[in-house]
Amino acid sequence: MPLFGRRPTLEEAVARVREELRAGTAPPALLEELRRREPLISGGRLPPGLQELLEAIPDAAALLEVGGRILARNPRMELLLGPLPTVLEATRSSELLELCARGLAGWPHRRELALPALDLQVEAQVAPLSHARALLVLRDLSAERKADRVRRDFIANASHELRTPVTAIRGAAETLLEGGLELPGQARSFVEMIARHADRLTRLTEDLLDLSKLETGAWKPALGPVPLAPLCASVIELFRERAEEKQIALDADVPERLRASADRRALEQILVNLLDNAVKFTPQGGRVTLLGDGLGPSVMLSVVDTGPGVEPQHQGRIFERFYRSDAGRSRESGGTGLGLAIVKHLSQAMGGEAGVESTGNGSRFWVKLPTA
Ligand SMILES: Nc1ncnc2c1ncn2[C@@H]1O[C@H](COP(=O)(O)OP(=O)(O)OP(=O)(O)O)[C@@H](O)[C@H]1O
Ligand SMILES: [Mg+2]
Repeated sequence: MPLFGRRPTLEEAVARVREELRAGTAPPALLEELRRREPLISGGRLPPGLQELLEAIPDAAALLEVGGRILARNPRMELLLGPLPTVLEATRSSELLELCARGLAGWPHRRELALPALDLQVEAQVAPLSHARALLVLRDLSAERKADRVRRDFIANASHELRTPVTAIRGAAETLLEGGLELPGQARSFVEMIARHADRLTRLTEDLLDLSKLETGAWKPALGPVPLAPLCASVIELFRERAEEKQIALDADVPERLRASADRRALEQILVNLLDNAVKFTPQGGRVTLLGDGLGPSVMLSVVDTGPGVEPQHQGRIFERFYRSDAGRSRESGGTGLGLAIVKHLSQAMGGEAGVESTGNGSRFWVKLPTA
């Protein structure tokens, strides 16, 4: 393109250079210069800005200046500590502030600490930067620490639960060996005691294995449409005899049309566990009812009883493993405190949930599942 002695416009110059590059006639010095400047002149490759850098950090990160003032933070940090302008205001932790002060004074530091005001356990790391600034990175350890605690509690609880029947069995066997066998009347009651506690031990280990399969995800529900009325009727029958012994009125009211998307055996187990509790905890002469309801995309099955109810302070916890609101009475009745934990896990594995509502006049334990 001839340029008739005037200064070319930018477009003309760019087109001319492109043409020369394509034809391979551009002077080597120009090529070299272009290569050197390429990162600067191609708009998208400018050096990353501060915010972009912070956002690339996989943990919560913030840029600090003197006094723990937060100059910039990434969305993870905003989520963890909120929007307040200083470390102290955001966390109310003088320990973290001190750590930041060290970083700002030029000393890198890393420490695990608790932020009680936010109910968090974090690993905090400060790295000094130029201009009296520092980078603060927080890793949220709360979930890990909670899992550790749950694991420790679980082992303590499980050992305790296993020790009770084992001690009883050993005691009875020793009595028999030390002469009890010669007293036929008593021998029988000791053997019965052994059988009863061995039963309890079997139930406990089976429940523990079920729970561990559920929690590790080794068990996957085989979901399919399950008609609820016939299933409920057959489960109710399993409890007929025990209910009659306690003169408990037991019945089901589940509309024929209700269908859940569920694993049939798992749902059966859920209902067995809920009805077992209802019949066990409801006193003589009470009533236990299994109700079904359709709620748009979900179905709800409820086991309603006229038992002692669950006090509000226990309601949030009875679905935890081994938790019993009245440990003594429940253990006496052979309970391990695992039934509701299994109910919760099975419901969740099928895309549903379980819960309780209770007053002093009884309880309603419910499970909600997707409609089929
Ligand atoms: N229908 C109910 N009425 C009153 N309290 C209940 C009822 N169902 C459960 N609970 C309380 O919740 C606790 C936990 O129930 P869960 O079924 O998990 O254990 P459990 O029945 O004691 O033992 P398991 O079911 O393992 O034999 C019970 O010990 C009891 O305190
Ligand atoms: Mg139970």
